[in-house]
Amino acid sequence: MTDFAAKTVVITGASSGIGEALAKAVDGRGVAGLGLLARRTDRLEELAGTLRAQAVVLTADVTDRDQVKAAAERFAARMGAPDVLFINAGVGQLLTGSRVDASLVRHVMEVNFLGAVHVLEAFLPAMVERGGHVVVTSSVASRRGLPGFAAYSASKAALDRYVEGLRVQLSGRGVRFTTIEPGFIKTPLTKKNRFWMPFLLEADDAAHRIVKAVERDRRRLTFPAPMAALVKVLGLLPDGIYDRVMRRTLPAKKRTLPAKKKRRW
Ligand SMILES: NC(=O)c1ccc[n+]([C@@H]2O[C@H](COP(=O)([O-])OP(=O)(O)OC[C@H]3O[C@@H](n4cnc5c(N)ncnc54)[C@H](OP(=O)(O)O)[C@@H]3O)[C@@H](O)[C@H]2O)c1
Repeated sequence: MTDFAAKTVVITGASSGIGEALAKAVDGRGVAGLGLLARRTDRLEELAGTLRAQAVVLTADVTDRDQVKAAAERFAARMGAPDVLFINAGVGQLLTGSRVDASLVRHVMEVNFLGAVHVLEAFLPAMVERGGHVVVTSSVASRRGLPGFAAYSASKAALDRYVEGLRVQLSGRGVRFTTIEPGFIKTPLTKKNRFWMPFLLEADDAAHRIVKAVERDRRRLTFPAPMAALVKVLGLLPDGIYDRVMRRTLPAKKRTLPAKKKRRW
């Protein structure tokens, strides 16, 4: 069991939403030190000022390998290797219609997938030496391709598979992994969504569920329960039925009718 008391913790994407709520939740569990990583220094400094634990502000863009490496060195100089590393920074992009925008897909992959890889590259070696816990914020969107969020789904699926491989590869080396798959959480990321978000949770509620899953050393947490059940069912659906169900989630004008089946003889 991972106990947060007197531990050192690094959180990426700590300047808002789930990351900020995680910082407050682990601070309440009596951590000794926190590294808060994101691009907006002012938001991180403001958060650091509200915490009981010592906090070091790590301004970095996760898409920039050198910036992440420098942030890890700054953290190590102050607090050593983190006991718990939350890899949480991420972006979501909605793109419906027939347009494929490679720059948008690249950006989503660079933040959500390669950004996580940069963070692992910078922090993991020291954790392997002395043990620790890596917690990765994936999404229920990793399970199947979501219409409108195809790039987001792809980035989270890549992250999931990568971390799953590492988890097994490093078993017995003292580093535990927890993959978090939240449903809809009320944060700046979902504020812009103009569609119905079922089972929407507050960020503080999400953070407490995540912290409990880490304390219990769970390999995976998908929440809330009704969303976990829904994605399980969606995961089992044959492609044809999945397409029919998910097409209904698109606004009517974006739906295109399936081509009429042609007889082959
Ligand atoms: N909200 C949901 O419903 C939901 C559901 C499933 C999964 N998630 C995942 O949960 C994580 C947190 O999302 P959230 O909902 O809390 O959104 P959020 O409030 O928008 O927070 C995103 C965080 O990521 C940071 N970030 C974004 N791009 C970055 C970059 N290039 N370099 C460094 N930091 C960067 C942001 O900080 P700066 O802008 O200051 O850099 C911010 O702190 C994401 O991985 C998201 O995919 C969210």
